[in-house]
Amino acid sequence: MCGIVAYIGPKDATPFLLEGLARLEYRGYDSAGVAVTGRGGGIKLRKVKGRVADLAADVPARFKGTTGIGHTRWATHGVPSDANAHPHLDNAERVAVVHNGIIENADELRAKLTADGAVFRSETDTEVLSHLIAAHLTEGVELEDAVRAALGRVVGTYGIAVLDAEQPDRIVVARNGSPIVLGIGEKEMFAASDVSALVRYTRQVVHLEDGELATVRADGFRTFTADARTTHRQPSTVDWEIDSFDTAGYEHYLLKEIHEQPGSVERTLSGRLDERFATAHLGGLNLDARELREIRRVKILGCGSAYYAGEMGAQLIEELSRIPAHSEPASEFRYRNPVIEADTLYVAVSQSGETYDTLAAVQEIKRKGGRVLGVVNTVGSAIARECDGGIYLHAGPEVSVASTKAFTSTVVAFALLALHFGRIHDLSPADGRRIVSALQALPDQIREVLDQSEAIAELAAEYAESAGMMFIGRVRAYPVAREGAQKLKEISYVHAEAYPASELKHGPLALISPELPTVAVVPDDELLDKNLTTLGEIKARSGRVIAVAHRRPEEKLADHCIVVPKSEPELDPLLLNIPLQLLAYHAAVALGRDVDKPRNLAKSVTVE
Ligand code: AGP
Repeated sequence: MCGIVAYIGPKDATPFLLEGLARLEYRGYDSAGVAVTGRGGGIKLRKVKGRVADLAADVPARFKGTTGIGHTRWATHGVPSDANAHPHLDNAERVAVVHNGIIENADELRAKLTADGAVFRSETDTEVLSHLIAAHLTEGVELEDAVRAALGRVVGTYGIAVLDAEQPDRIVVARNGSPIVLGIGEKEMFAASDVSALVRYTRQVVHLEDGELATVRADGFRTFTADARTTHRQPSTVDWEIDSFDTAGYEHYLLKEIHEQPGSVERTLSGRLDERFATAHLGGLNLDARELREIRRVKILGCGSAYYAGEMGAQLIEELSRIPAHSEPASEFRYRNPVIEADTLYVAVSQSGETYDTLAAVQEIKRKGGRVLGVVNTVGSAIARECDGGIYLHAGPEVSVASTKAFTSTVVAFALLALHFGRIHDLSPADGRRIVSALQALPDQIREVLDQSEAIAELAAEYAESAGMMFIGRVRAYPVAREGAQKLKEISYVHAEAYPASELKHGPLALISPELPTVAVVPDDELLDKNLTTLGEIKARSGRVIAVAHRRPEEKLADHCIVVPKSEPELDPLLLNIPLQLLAYHAAVALGRDVDKPRNLAKSVTVE
């Protein structure tokens, strides 16, 4: 959830560190800091509570060094403050450490180090690492050996980068449950927790594995294990465009990413539709038709919006292939000693590919012998590497904390999987063709929804001050309501609840009043009449209704309507979701929220 950057080379490290941190700020943004060193220079440190811009303003011109590390933080241990910001130093100010993750035995280590004379200056778990590494750096000990020895005493998760003022020719990094990527430059090397900090400088990267460490010098790197065995890692090439990390003239990344959806959906579909056999080609599944026929159940796992996208995916799989499918929060699944069945296909969903709860669920399934596919956006990420196969979204980098284009592409990927499954089972060629054509039509239909952005902005401004909002939908539309409520609360901080429309009269109807408007997702499908009855029940209680529908309901049933183009019933949820992204975005703007970096959140939740 926090961001790490590191540089070693002939140049001054500080400009890269500050620029890299700004690019990673979406991962955590309550405090930031940098430390640099150079030949004979000791460690220079600057860290502040606040944003990277506050840090940049605080860094003096003379703050120079050819070896440096930086960090942007999302607090887990200790409040956001200057003292708790990273990097953390040992008492001799020889070692500086930045850390993502959680050290579980920090209290115990802190007590031992304090007894040995260490004086702690922060409330963080990370500071134990600086003192611990320093304690192992006795005469003649190499930094990498001290880091290995220190990590041997640590229980928990980490991605770290370590500087030693007395060995300024290297940085040591390590990974266990929190990503570290090395970037290979011309006589200079970079490291970061995320490739987005590196792409401006290099496309050649090496993703460290869990349990791996690396010594990084200006002219190269060496990777090794905790017991000092050298590992051999081949660099891979990042194909994301640099422009993907800019706002491209949009006011916010979120608006840009919402508007990118016609293109990102095209990329998710690209080369995967087979018109001849009315099916989908998914080469990365690593499962042939015979193996797929043996699957009796599909269990989808993800967190937050990835879980809701999984709910849409489960619906698609059941409808098109008639294989029972269910989505569950990965964060719950991993803690309930799940029964793993040989004939169940497990599917892990993650934009970042780094969400710790989802990764832990994948590892638990694999440990018990289950088969897991990944539906992942970030190529080479931990979840992608851990899975037996899967589908890459190719949605491009998603920077804004709220997921939009990755959500939509995930649903498209599930539609492809469901089509593939369906055509292996009993989905007729005619139905297959129906779905193929509907998928091909999606990009233009999304454009039609996006064209309504201004009208949706007016509606959002009218309702933004509401104390709360109710979101309802039936069956296919229920995950749309859940994701719509999630988006609204996440970025506007307006309280939002999602209910199945059918459940309203079993309790939540008591909440309905003019003060609690309802967003009703009303597809033109076999449940339309039931939905219209529900709208009547809300209006009878003086509730205000915004319908998101294929056809405008009678005036007495809805105060407003956002009309969405009709797809095939199975794919309708995907399009019905898009106006809710715009509604949340414009409500957040109307309320003056920090749209791309909502309070208390971070883009990738790489801690438990
Ligand atoms: C989405 O808007 C949220 N920021 C959040 O729920 C997110 O979807 C979740 O944390 C999972 O992230 P992942 O897709 O990177 O695993």
